[in-house]
Amino acid sequence: MRITHLKIDGFKNINIDMKVTPTVNILVGENANGKTNIIEAVWLATGCRSFRNLKDKDIVDFNKETATVEITYTTKERENTIKYVVEKSNPKDKKVYLNGVKKKSLSQLFGNLRCIVFTPDDLELSKGGPEHRRTFIDICVSQLKPVYIMHLNKYNDILSQRNMLLKEIQMGRGDVSLLDIYDEQLSFHGTNISVMREEYSNILRECAKRVFFDMSRGHEYMSLKYQSTVFEDLKNAKIDDLKEIYKEKLLSMRDEDIRLGFTGIGTHRDDIIIEVNDLNLREYGSQGQQRSVALSLKLAQAEILMRLTGESPIILFDDALSEIDKRRQSYVMNEIDDMQVILTCCDPIVALDARIGNLYAIQRGEVIDFIDNLKKMRVKPYGCVIDNIDVSKVTKLDEKK
Ligand SMILES: Nc1ncnc2c1ncn2[C@@H]1O[C@H](COP(=O)(O)OP(=O)(O)OP(=O)(O)O)[C@@H](O)[C@H]1O
Ligand SMILES: [Mg+2]
Repeated sequence: MRITHLKIDGFKNINIDMKVTPTVNILVGENANGKTNIIEAVWLATGCRSFRNLKDKDIVDFNKETATVEITYTTKERENTIKYVVEKSNPKDKKVYLNGVKKKSLSQLFGNLRCIVFTPDDLELSKGGPEHRRTFIDICVSQLKPVYIMHLNKYNDILSQRNMLLKEIQMGRGDVSLLDIYDEQLSFHGTNISVMREEYSNILRECAKRVFFDMSRGHEYMSLKYQSTVFEDLKNAKIDDLKEIYKEKLLSMRDEDIRLGFTGIGTHRDDIIIEVNDLNLREYGSQGQQRSVALSLKLAQAEILMRLTGESPIILFDDALSEIDKRRQSYVMNEIDDMQVILTCCDPIVALDARIGNLYAIQRGEVIDFIDNLKKMRVKPYGCVIDNIDVSKVTKLDEKK
């Protein structure tokens, strides 16, 4: 899958109409010029929720009435267009079209334009609490198995009902026998979730390990393991047997749950444990290692998606290159084969490491300069020159206008 054209007007400060190259696209610009806004406008077209908690009322440019985003992309089968229009007067009621056919909402686009997004907040995958890693694996599995979303939704519903009941019982009001019914249902969905997470983690382990190893040019290795709060071993067990184990565990913890007023074990408490060079990443990893692991996880997610669906997702990397060394930067720009990359950064100097791709200089939401063949880049003693455009001028954006 490749984006070929992007036309955005009135999405925050963005006003662009640009061709996108199938390989690497580097959006470069100083802070607060709209690079992330471009990534965000594309991401919303995937039908997923905003990665910045963007509110509908904040989509349209302060000075305009309408935001229009048009994305043309190709899949193996055909060329597609996604268009969405947001009116400031009624930003909730978005007009969404896929190949000219009206859709009810952005979320109805899910499954069409497939992207993997990496933002600075994704560092939490490495150093944050287990909820970040659970959300990550939940998204990964959902992309591949729609039935997983059903199990997850049901599990969360039953869990909140069970927790409410536990509080009632604690206060001497609830019906304890109802817990048997909830435990039966929770065990069923929880077991299915655990099994699918375990399966996915096994694929992810191998893939992320290789990406991370390559990214660090063989200097470091990572490992990961799905850690269930219910099961000691998920391998080779029958689903019915596992469900019984789940139920027994809930029963054994019941008094404790009533005392606490919530469910202390289950898939909502699980984690993925990551180690680098045999040391726990969360506790001992350096900032650069944590970022590289988070990047590797996202790239592995993309690779698995490509392998299992036959269609490569588009990689959106927002500010992914800061805090990682040159070797790893070069990996991101040169060695992600078979996938289109759109990445943002503040310093055009990083483009010197790219062997292929385009560079776009972004200023105040517009493309003010464009270099279409990074192969022509040459380094001169006192600065870098790309195809006769002096990169130092691209940095000093104010001088250009
Ligand atoms: N609704 C809006 N209308 C117009 N401009 C907006 C709107 N919302 C945000 N902006 C502008 O968008 C800019 C920030 O954009 P963005 O976060 O994409 O910057 P960036 O280039 O990614 O910066 P950084 O390098 O710091 O990450 C700010 O200048 C802000 O004023
Ligand atoms: Mg940004």
